[in-house]
Amino acid sequence: MRLIRKAVFPVAGFGSRFLPATKASPKEMMPIVDKPLIQYAVEEAVAAGLTDMVFVTGRHKRAIEDHFDKAYEIENELASRGKTELLELVRGIIPKHVNCIYIRQPEQLGLGHAVLCAQPVLNDEPFAVILADDLIDARTPAVRQMVEVFEQERCSVLGVQEVPRAQTASYGIVATAPFRERVEEMQAIVEKPQPAAAPSTLAVIGRYVLTPAVLRHLARVRPGAGGEIQLTDGIAALLGEERVLAHRFEGVRYDCGSKLGYLQATVAFGTRHGEVGAEFTEYLKRFSGA
Ligand code: G1P
Repeated sequence: MRLIRKAVFPVAGFGSRFLPATKASPKEMMPIVDKPLIQYAVEEAVAAGLTDMVFVTGRHKRAIEDHFDKAYEIENELASRGKTELLELVRGIIPKHVNCIYIRQPEQLGLGHAVLCAQPVLNDEPFAVILADDLIDARTPAVRQMVEVFEQERCSVLGVQEVPRAQTASYGIVATAPFRERVEEMQAIVEKPQPAAAPSTLAVIGRYVLTPAVLRHLARVRPGAGGEIQLTDGIAALLGEERVLAHRFEGVRYDCGSKLGYLQATVAFGTRHGEVGAEFTEYLKRFSGA
């Protein structure tokens, strides 16, 4: 099987949890300190050696395309003012060897449907799916950890973490059997079960490495939880045919789809930021009265 080159970023969602901030601009463009969430996600894919970034977008998402495109006006302006550092920053947002591909998801029919929209460019190759809402702070980027497992085992790998039982209805939850350290064999997966019905508290975080066979299953999946075509249900069908692994990746995950997670990420990345980190840390100490 071929190695992984492509990453799919489903970015068509409304971001209603962040209204009014997301009324006219995409939630994926919300910054953690000075970088939009989608850029963290793309950097993670690039760090894993992936070269083709496939964005599944929708209406009102032009800002994402513009962000990864050449910005003539800004570049000219910065060049003429001699601001070389900022110029390099703007020019280096996406490395030259990386391709950006945009596909429209005309209707928001679910995460599984979004992934299926990318099928025409996936060429029957394995691929990663990255949800930019889930920001993962890790020494080895999470997708890279998962690509390594894929390369050893040659099967689909889902990124998982333990969550409190009270929160299972927010996640895809997996049942697993031991395999090796940090990696487990998946036996079942269910989308957003109520705590009493959840087979475990091991939740899928927004990172997937998938074999192309999942697309065949997704094409047949009927609307599931929330009336949506769920990626989880496509993976459940794939399980009947192929081995799927769950990887307890190393790293701290911030749920930037929630206000609290977003603020926590801002504190974590802000206190380490090269320009303002030290001062911000001091400020937080004073603020909390420590
Ligand atoms: C999606 C998936 C879910 C997964 C979650 C991770 O849900 O459907 O299985 O656990 O992402 O963040 P969403 O958060 O889009 O409702």
